[in-house]
Amino acid sequence: MRHAIPAWIRIPVIFLIIAGALEFLIDSGETYAFIKYPLLAVALLVLLLLLLAAEFILDAFENIMFQALSPEAKERYMAAQQERMKKYDLRELYKKAMGTRPISEERDLELDHNYDGIKELDNKLPPWWLYSFYASIIFAAGYMAYYHIFDGDDQLAEFETEMLAAKLAVEEYKKNAPDLVDAESVVLLTDAGDLDKGAALYQTNCMACHAADGGGGIGPNLTDKHWILGGGIKNVFHTISEGGRAGKGMIAWKSSLKPTEIQQVASYILSLEGTTPANPKEAEGEVWTAE
Ligand code: HEC
Repeated sequence: MRHAIPAWIRIPVIFLIIAGALEFLIDSGETYAFIKYPLLAVALLVLLLLLLAAEFILDAFENIMFQALSPEAKERYMAAQQERMKKYDLRELYKKAMGTRPISEERDLELDHNYDGIKELDNKLPPWWLYSFYASIIFAAGYMAYYHIFDGDDQLAEFETEMLAAKLAVEEYKKNAPDLVDAESVVLLTDAGDLDKGAALYQTNCMACHAADGGGGIGPNLTDKHWILGGGIKNVFHTISEGGRAGKGMIAWKSSLKPTEIQQVASYILSLEGTTPANPKEAEGEVWTAE
C-alpha cells in the first residue's frame, strides 16, 4: 500500500497538507503564520525531518524483509515493484502528458486522406494542452458569472474599497497616536497641565536665548504681538519644529522634542502674549493677526 505513491510525491504532499492546515488554522494576520511565529517554522522543519526519517526507516525494514525472501519471491517482488515504479516514472509521465507516439507507430495514425501524395496524420492533441483548454473553459464560465452576471468587484472597485479601508486605518491610527501632530493638525492647548509641561520644557531648553519670562535675548521677544516667522499655533509650531532662518541661532527642535512637546511649549509661548517681561527686547517682525 505504501508504494502506491512514491516517496517523492508522498512526502511533499503530506508536508504541504499539514503546513497548509496549520496556516489555515493559526490566525497570523497579514503575514504567514510561520513567519510570524518562528517556532512554527522550526516545528515544520522538524516535521519534514521526521517524515524523511520515517521514510528511511521503512525502507530499511523493507530491505531486511526482502533479504529474508526466497529467490523466487524476490524475483516476483522485484517485477511487481518495477511495474509500480513505471506508473510514476517522470519520463513516463512526461510522455503521457505530451501524448506523443513514436515514429514507428506513425502508420497507425495515418488517415485515408491523400492529397497528391501528401498524407494526413491524425495526431491527437497533447493531453496537457487539451486539459488546460478544458480548465480555461471552466474558468471562463466562473469568470463570466462573477464579473458579468453577479457584478463582482472589478479592479477599480477593489482599489477603491482598499483605499477607503486604508484611509480609515490611517485616521484610526492618528486617533491612537497623539504624537502625530504636525504643523497642519496642531491645535492650541489651553489645559493647565499641558501649559505647565510647556513651561517646564521652556525653562530647560529655551530660556537661555528667549529669557525666563519670554522677554527675549539672543532670540526675539515672545510676549509681544510681533512675529518674525509668523504667529499663531501653526506657525509657532513650525518654527520650533523646523528652526528659524539659517544662521540666526534658532535650531530645529524636532530631533530633540516630540511633536506633543513642541505643541505644549508652543502653546505655552502663546499664553505669554500680553504679559510684561522684566527686560523686554524691542519688537521684531510684523504684527500677527490670525486670518
Ligand atoms: C540658541 C538660542 C536659542 C534657543 C536655545 C532657542 N531659540 Fe528660539 N529663536 C532664537 C533666535 C535667534 C530666533 C530668531 C530666528 C530668526 O530670526 O529666524 C528665534 C526664534 C524663535 C521663534 C520665532 C519668533 C518669531 O518672532 O517668529 C520662536 C517661536 C522660538 N524661537 C521659540 C523657541 C523655543 C520654544 C525654544 C526652546 C524649545 C527656543 N526658541 C530656543 C534663538 C534661540
